Amino acid sequence: MTILGIETSCDDTGIAIIEGAEQEGELRFRILAHNVSSQASLHAPYGGIYPSLAKREHEKNLPLVLSQALKEAKLSSVSPKIDAISVTVGPGLSPCLWSGVNFANNLAAQWSLPLIPANHIEGHILVSLLREEEDFFILPRDASLFPMLSLIISGGHTQLVLAKAFGAYEIIGETRDDAAGECFDKTARILGLSYPGGPAIAQQAELWRAKHTAQIQKSKFEIKLPRPMEHTKDYDFSFSGLKTAVLYDYQSRPEEERKSSEYVQEMAYNIQEAIADVLVKKTMQAARTLGVASVVLGGGVAANTRIKAKLSSTLSQEMSETKFFASKPSLSGDNGLIPAIAGLAHASQKTSAPLEANPNLRVG
Ligand code: KG4
Ligand code: ZN
Repeated sequence: MTILGIETSCDDTGIAIIEGAEQEGELRFRILAHNVSSQASLHAPYGGIYPSLAKREHEKNLPLVLSQALKEAKLSSVSPKIDAISVTVGPGLSPCLWSGVNFANNLAAQWSLPLIPANHIEGHILVSLLREEEDFFILPRDASLFPMLSLIISGGHTQLVLAKAFGAYEIIGETRDDAAGECFDKTARILGLSYPGGPAIAQQAELWRAKHTAQIQKSKFEIKLPRPMEHTKDYDFSFSGLKTAVLYDYQSRPEEERKSSEYVQEMAYNIQEAIADVLVKKTMQAARTLGVASVVLGGGVAANTRIKAKLSSTLSQEMSETKFFASKPSLSGDNGLIPAIAGLAHASQKTSAPLEANPNLRVG
């Protein structure tokens, strides 16, 4: 079947068209079109996402991204050969979700097509499991993946999701305040780095690490950041204290020192290490206690090579039998494949009734 996926849960307007089917227990599909319009530069001056601005941009971009996608897939814009429209209904920012859901409802009425509601977190999990073979993408569905533990980290979410089977999810831990990506974004702003802060911090951190590893540079500022909730027995996270510690350290330094590239690089390195330490520690604690068969890393922050490498190496050292899956960096951020794949996996949930957005939707 051919599915058109629409994603607008945050600040990316994504549309993908995929064609696939279940084959020998796996979902096999081809990507016919995959287009994302990013609003990052628009939100940069605010250091975070401005929901009403994001909604207006989604409404402006959706028809443009759709026409690009139909063209790429060589489909008619009057009555395209599509079997269903899958749209992200939650979780996410309410005005943003509604712009995608309203657009999907109108398209479905215009083209007389059924709709499939997609959960954004499940979509991130499924995208992270994909394997590429020639021009096909394959979503494994075998029972040996379970129990499966997913760490989904983005600008809006930090969740540990346990799955006993596809569709049988339970959130076993999540952030009590800021999300991991939000912590990257907010601390980057303190340091005067660009938005989105994650890639900016990662880049500065790598500059420092390269010099440090080559023993060209020693730690100069003796920065000590906390690892919030590292030792608690639950699987929850907290990142707002880390952000405050960065702010206090920054404010305690003379202007000349805190504006120096050496300080920014060393602080960026320490921020990335603190976030990576907490994420890896909590994920390993859950993986061990629950005896999972696979660990999945997804969401925009999964593009961070340090977090991915640290989780992967700790897992192979301590639980070598456990499989590790991480989304391709090009697919870790928000995009139309997220709802398209969730839609293909839940094709049986097709409905002819208009959908509603649910900003607080929980997976499971
Ligand atoms: O999943 P996503 O595209 O959108 C949300 O659902 O939030 O994630 C965006 C987040 C931003 O906070 C951004 O700073 C972060 O992902 N991010 C990164 C990296 N690339 C993007 N964080 C750390 N390292 C990266 N390389
Ligand atoms: Zn996301």
